[in-house]
Amino acid sequence: MKKAAYTVTAALPYANGPLHLGHVAGVYLPADIFVRFLRMNDHDVAFICGSDEHGAAITLRAKKEGVSPQEIVDKYNHLIKNAFEQFNISFDIFHRTSDQLHHETSADFFKKLHEQGKFTEQTSDQYYDEEFQQFLADRYITGECPKCTNPNAYGDQCEKCGSDLSPTDLKNPKSTLSGKSPILKSTSHWYLPMDQHEAWLKEWIQNGVLDGVQQHDPKTWRNQVIGQCMSWINGGLKPRAMTRDLDWGVKVPLPDSEGKVLYVWLDAPIGYISATKQWALDNGKDWRNYWCKKEAEDRKLVHFIGKDNIVFHAIIFPILLKDHGDFILPDNVPAYEFLNLEGDKFSTSRNWAVWLHEYLESYPDKVDELKYVLTAIAPENKDSEFTWKEYQTRVNSELADIFGNFVNRTLVLTKKYYDGEVPTPSNFEESDIQVLNELKEIPNRISNLVYAYKLRDAQAEMMQIARIGNKYLADQEPWKLIKTNPDRVKTILYIALQVTAKLAHAAAPFLPDTSEKLKVVLNKNWAEWNELQNDELIKPGDLIGESKILFPKIEDSLVDSELEKLHQSNENKSNYPPMKDSINFDDFSKLDMRLGTITHAEKVEKADKLLKLSVKTGIDERTIVSGIAEHYKPEDIIGKTVLVLLNLEPRKIRGIESQGMILMAENEEGALSFLAPEKAFDAGPTVR
Ligand code: 2FM
Ligand code: ZN
Repeated sequence: MKKAAYTVTAALPYANGPLHLGHVAGVYLPADIFVRFLRMNDHDVAFICGSDEHGAAITLRAKKEGVSPQEIVDKYNHLIKNAFEQFNISFDIFHRTSDQLHHETSADFFKKLHEQGKFTEQTSDQYYDEEFQQFLADRYITGECPKCTNPNAYGDQCEKCGSDLSPTDLKNPKSTLSGKSPILKSTSHWYLPMDQHEAWLKEWIQNGVLDGVQQHDPKTWRNQVIGQCMSWINGGLKPRAMTRDLDWGVKVPLPDSEGKVLYVWLDAPIGYISATKQWALDNGKDWRNYWCKKEAEDRKLVHFIGKDNIVFHAIIFPILLKDHGDFILPDNVPAYEFLNLEGDKFSTSRNWAVWLHEYLESYPDKVDELKYVLTAIAPENKDSEFTWKEYQTRVNSELADIFGNFVNRTLVLTKKYYDGEVPTPSNFEESDIQVLNELKEIPNRISNLVYAYKLRDAQAEMMQIARIGNKYLADQEPWKLIKTNPDRVKTILYIALQVTAKLAHAAAPFLPDTSEKLKVVLNKNWAEWNELQNDELIKPGDLIGESKILFPKIEDSLVDSELEKLHQSNENKSNYPPMKDSINFDDFSKLDMRLGTITHAEKVEKADKLLKLSVKTGIDERTIVSGIAEHYKPEDIIGKTVLVLLNLEPRKIRGIESQGMILMAENEEGALSFLAPEKAFDAGPTVR
C-alpha cells in the first residue's frame, strides 16, 4: 500500500524579530525531526514554512524602529531564513506572505468564501485613535483582561491566560499608538460566523469524525490541544472579523473596500498553501497533491505550532478549509507548551532570551549539541526550562561521555587492532546476543514514538543505543582482552561496530550532522529507516575511516560567559536609542533655547505631517513649521507654552521659511509630547 503523503507545516514566524530557543524547541526542531523521519520512511512529504509578514506585529515594530514595514519584514525574513539554514532545518521551502503569489492565493480564497456566502458583513463601533486616525484592532489596543485581570492584555488575546478577546472586552482600553483612551467609531467588516460551526467541530476534534467519516485518530492528539479547543467551543464561539482597517496586508478583493485588508490570522495559514504552490512550481510538482481531497489516497496535514496558536490551527483554519470545500483538514495539530529560560519566561522586550542566530554565530560547530538538548527538554506536555548548566551537563555527560565515547572507542580500537577493517566474529556469547536483540527492538520503538509525536522519548530511545554500546564495551573491556584472547576481541568489536552503525543511522532525524559525519567514517550511505532491521549493517571486511571527536566538552567558561551576557543585556535593555557622543559645554551653550507660546496654528497644504505655527518668543513672534500635524490638531495647541530652539538656521519647508524648531519628546511608540514648563511661565524665559 502506498504510504500516506504528508504536508507538514511549522508556524510561520512573524518577521518582526529574531527567533529564540523557545521558538526552536517548541515548533521548528520537532517538526524537522518528524519530517526527516517521514522522509526516511518513504512518505511523500512537503515541509512548509515561511515568514508571516502582515498584521500589527509588523507595523508596530516598524513604528518602533522608525522604518517602513517593508524594511522590517525584509530584515527579519533574511535573518530568520539564514538562521534556519545554518541550524540545518530541512524545510522544502521558506516562503513569505508578502509575496505576490501569496497575496493572490489568499485574496482568491477570501473571494471564494465570500461568493459562497460564508461571511457575514457587519457594521459596529470599534475603538479608534483620534490622534493617529486609526482603528485599533488586535495589538493596537491593550487593557485589562476581563478573565484574569492581566493589565497588559491585547485586543485579540491575553497572553497570560490565553483567552481569546475582542478589543471591546478589555477594561480601561488604551491605544498602543498614542497611549490615550480611544473613542468608538463605526466601521464595517466581514465576519466568520464561528458560532455556526460548533457542532461539527466538537465531533471532529473529540472523535476525529467529519460527515460520518473517520478523519483522524483523536488518541494521537495532545490532551492540551483537545482540552483548549473544547473549552473554547463550550464557552461559545463568536463571529470573528476576517478583515481589518489597516494599510498593510492583503487588500480585501471586493469593491468599495478601500483601506481594508485581510485579518492576518486569515492570510497567514493560507501562507502554508501559497508556499506549497511556490515549491510545487519550482519543482515541477502539483501542489494539489498536498492539500486537496482525493478518493483513495491518504493525505495528512500536520501543523506544528506553539500553544498560543492552537485556536487558529485547530478551529479557525479548519473552518476556513472546510468552508472552501476543496481541502483536507489537519490530521494533527501537535502544539507545544512554552520553554522558559533560567527561571523566567523568554521575553523579547526584556532581552531575556538566547537568540538562535547569536548562538550559531558563537558556536557554528555545535548545531547538533543544541538540537540534542532542546529535544531532550522539549515542552511537549508541560512548560519546561533551558539553562546553560543543563546544556553543559547534557552535552558532556550524555553526548560526549556516552555517545561520543562509545563511538570513538569502537572506531579507534578497530583502527588500532585491524587497521580499520571490520573483523569477522566467532561464536556469539549470551551478552552479544542480548545486545543484538535489544538493538532489534529499538527502531520500532522509535517509529511508534515518532508517529505518536513523542519526539523527546524517541530521541531517548536513540540514545539508548549508545548506552547499550557504551555499557557493552565497558563490561567486555576488549583493551584488556586483546593480549589474552584476541579472537574474542574480534567478536566484541564486530558487535560494537554493529551498534555504532545502528546508532549512526538511527541518529539521522535527531542529529543529522553527526549522522552524516559518522556515515562518512563508516563508508555507508543508508537512507531508509527499515535498513535498521538489518542485523548486519556493516560487514566483516568493510573498511572504516578515521574517528574524530564528535562532541567536544563544554567548558565552564562557556556557561559563565553566556550567563553573564544574559544578565547584562537584560539589565541594559532599553527601547530607546543609545546615548549620542559627548559634547563640551561650549557646544551646549551655542544652543539658544527659550520658552515660546503658540499664538496661531494651521495645516500646511498638501503636507499631512506639517503645521505652520506662529510662536511668541519674548523677543519676537516668528513662524515655525513643525512636523506634528499627525499628533495635534491646530485648534488644540493655541496658547500652549513650549520649548523652542531659536537659533537653528532658518530653512524653507514647503515654501515657508521656518525660523527655529519646537522641541518635542518622543516615546517608544512614536507618540510626541510638548515640553511644557512646570511653573506658569509665559513666552520669553531662556533655558540653560
Ligand atoms: O504566532 C506567530 O508567530 C504567528 N506568526 C504564527 C502564524 S502561523 C500560521 F498561521 F501562519
Ligand atoms: Zn487573561
